[in-house]
Amino acid sequence: MKVLGIETSCDETAAAIVDGEGRILANRVLSQLEEHRPYGGVVPEIAARSHLDHLDRLIQEAFAEAGLGLDEIDGVAATAGPGLIGGVFVGVLTAKAMAAARGLPFIAVNHLEGHALTVRLTDEVAFPYLLLLVSGGHCQLLAVRGVGRYERYGTTIDDAVGEAFDKTAKLLGLGYPGGPLVEKAAARGNPARFSLPRPMLGRPELDFSFSGLKTAVRNQIEKLESFGEQDAADLAAAFQEAVGEVLADRAGRALIRFREETGSVGPLVVAGGVAANARLRARLQDCAGEAGTRLVAPPPALCTDNAAMIAWAGLERLRLGLTDPLTFAPRPRWPLDSLTAAA
Ligand code: KG4
Ligand code: ZN
Repeated sequence: MKVLGIETSCDETAAAIVDGEGRILANRVLSQLEEHRPYGGVVPEIAARSHLDHLDRLIQEAFAEAGLGLDEIDGVAATAGPGLIGGVFVGVLTAKAMAAARGLPFIAVNHLEGHALTVRLTDEVAFPYLLLLVSGGHCQLLAVRGVGRYERYGTTIDDAVGEAFDKTAKLLGLGYPGGPLVEKAAARGNPARFSLPRPMLGRPELDFSFSGLKTAVRNQIEKLESFGEQDAADLAAAFQEAVGEVLADRAGRALIRFREETGSVGPLVVAGGVAANARLRARLQDCAGEAGTRLVAPPPALCTDNAAMIAWAGLERLRLGLTDPLTFAPRPRWPLDSLTAAA
């Protein structure tokens, strides 16, 4: 079985083909970074137009890379939400047109489910597992029981963690996008010089909060008489340490609940763009180890947005007969715990 996946929900235009054995036959990703950089963030209208300009070519390239023709795939999957709706429309309409023209099944994939199932493609992780989803738009802990079967344990009450990285990078004058730049600066910094808060640490509910941390960074900057490169590095390191401690605390508590509810010692899985951060991965690895389990994280290129994860989620759904009608409407908001699952 082979499925084409299309991803256009944010600022990556991507097309990929995967097969039932978990092989990635093609994986094309075009970042729109340079188009959005002058604005310091993703501009939805520019993103949608850029997807429209490049998607057809990327799909052709994916078929060429896989050495396959249009009639050799078994389904077409596209991110149908959540995300910037103009971009989502471009991907969904393209997928529907291809499915209609070739009589192929269409699969409307939830972008978050793409992140959630990636470790089944890369590491063949069996259900159930606990997922920490950390990206630019989301920060959630979910019990993953099966395809389409998710229970949300906690979410952010303000900023997503990637968003906090991006805003902190801006405050520190590091540029855009912030996550990788904060990580790079932090490597040269002393995390002990500044003391930053650990929002939600030790709280029994499993939610997150990051806006206070970002404000604390701003306050520290304002207290300094001058602000140089070393100050930015030290603050980046302190920020990253605070985030790491909070994520490990929340994930550790969630693992206890997950074990009580499922009776499983399934792994802690981390996914989403922020999971590309090596220091945070190390913290989560310790946390999983202390709980007697392991951490599984996809390779960084499959943590950030890509279409291989959409193709794979589509394939998992197709295998279960979970296809969608061509009338399926894209959804700007689409919580993961409202998905359809196999009976
Ligand atoms: O999953 P993703 O590619 O897109 C969304 O669906 O949001 O995640 C992008 C987010 C951005 O906020 C980016 O700053 C963050 O992931 N990110 C990182 C790192 N690489 C990307 N955050 C911390 N450390 C990194 N190395
Ligand atoms: Zn994403």
